[in-house]
Amino acid sequence: MQKLVIHGGKPLCGEISISGAKNAALPALCASLLTNDTLRLKNIPDLKDVTTMVSLLKQMGVTILTNDTSEMELSAAHLTNPIAPYEMVKTMRAAILVLGPLLAHKGEAIISLPGGCAIGLRPVDQHIKGLQAMGAEIIIEHGYIHAKAKKLVGTRIVMDIVTVTGTENLMMAACLASGLTRLENAAREPEIVDLAQCLIKMGAKIEGAGTDVITIQGVDALHGCMHDVMPDRIETGTFLTAVTASSGQIHLKGARADMLDAVIDKLLEAGAIINSEENWIHLTMNKPPKSVSLRTAPYPAFPTDMQAQFMTLNSVANGTAIITETIFENRFMHVQELRRMNAEITVEGNTAIVHGIPKLDGANVMATDLRASASLVIAGLVAQGETVIDRIYHLDRGYERIEQKLVHLGAKIARIN
Ligand code: UD1
Repeated sequence: MQKLVIHGGKPLCGEISISGAKNAALPALCASLLTNDTLRLKNIPDLKDVTTMVSLLKQMGVTILTNDTSEMELSAAHLTNPIAPYEMVKTMRAAILVLGPLLAHKGEAIISLPGGCAIGLRPVDQHIKGLQAMGAEIIIEHGYIHAKAKKLVGTRIVMDIVTVTGTENLMMAACLASGLTRLENAAREPEIVDLAQCLIKMGAKIEGAGTDVITIQGVDALHGCMHDVMPDRIETGTFLTAVTASSGQIHLKGARADMLDAVIDKLLEAGAIINSEENWIHLTMNKPPKSVSLRTAPYPAFPTDMQAQFMTLNSVANGTAIITETIFENRFMHVQELRRMNAEITVEGNTAIVHGIPKLDGANVMATDLRASASLVIAGLVAQGETVIDRIYHLDRGYERIEQKLVHLGAKIARIN
């Protein structure tokens, strides 16, 4: 199993490019299931989750051509096997995103129930409830969702909870339903807007993506198009936080500040100096960070996917921070590992109290989920001495060439077997 070895204490300086967004690439790949034409996607990041999704689509019968590492052409014209097996869904919950498009276009989908995961229970009841409201017949047996519908019918769906992939699944399904679908209490994440833009280019009639009410007028068929996947706002936020914690300066090419307002506000509060234009962000940090309290919530509030990285920032900041996690019930697993590096963190329910100390101590730690891994990398970068991070396959699910990018910024980091 591979590990990362980091020798901390060096400021990070330099320029890197931000990759395409994992959470926008995965639904865009699934959008290929909505048409028999070819969907051409650009700016697809080279990540384990993308490879898993590509394998899943291929075993269903989707033809996928990769022109270079970041471009793909997908055709579902000869799809034969509308099944997402347990083995794939258990490693990547986003596989549930094939449910809506398969059902809408092929009339049937057999998808393994994702089950719980490290950060929480993560049910998919809202996906199922929405599709049932559109007329799907859904049976759950032997751990699989078996969904059938001759033709989905547009309707008004009020979601009980704000769900990102739930909104994406229902939005994709509604594109080929008959009549009008109105999704209320929809998630507003930029990745939903990116997916809507792709679907609109494919001929879908969608309004309101990016607000909490999305309306979709169903059409008979969608066609192919070319779509450039948006930059990864969580990768962007992770590098900005790493530099704020470790000092130095960074220029992020292809980064979008307008999608990161809540994170940038907190980094400014911590003492970072930030400039940005449409497609770059520059951050300078030349003093120890100040503690910043935060509460995660659906977009546009502070993202749960940045909570762990800010836990590390607060571990080495001046003052005490209170971090409240409201999205996932078990998303503090990095705390135990950070404590092994001497961080002073106490957890009560969904709240963590972090007393900043001047320096963390390098130690052997274990990655437990994707963003927890990122928090440990930042911890290693700011710690005294050597940090060894085990189970970094979690990191490879969502960060493209992270150690190469960090080496380019001057970090002492290496991957070992
Ligand atoms: C997406 C992101 C993930 C991010 C999360 C929250 C992708 C591929 N993943 O995950 O990186 O951390 O949004 O921003 O885009 N819930 C239910 N019933 C449902 C669906 C969700 O109760 O049917 C609950 C979940 O357990 C969780 C909350 O709703 O507590 C939000 O989950 P959701 O937005 O669905 O997360 P994902 O779409 O899985």
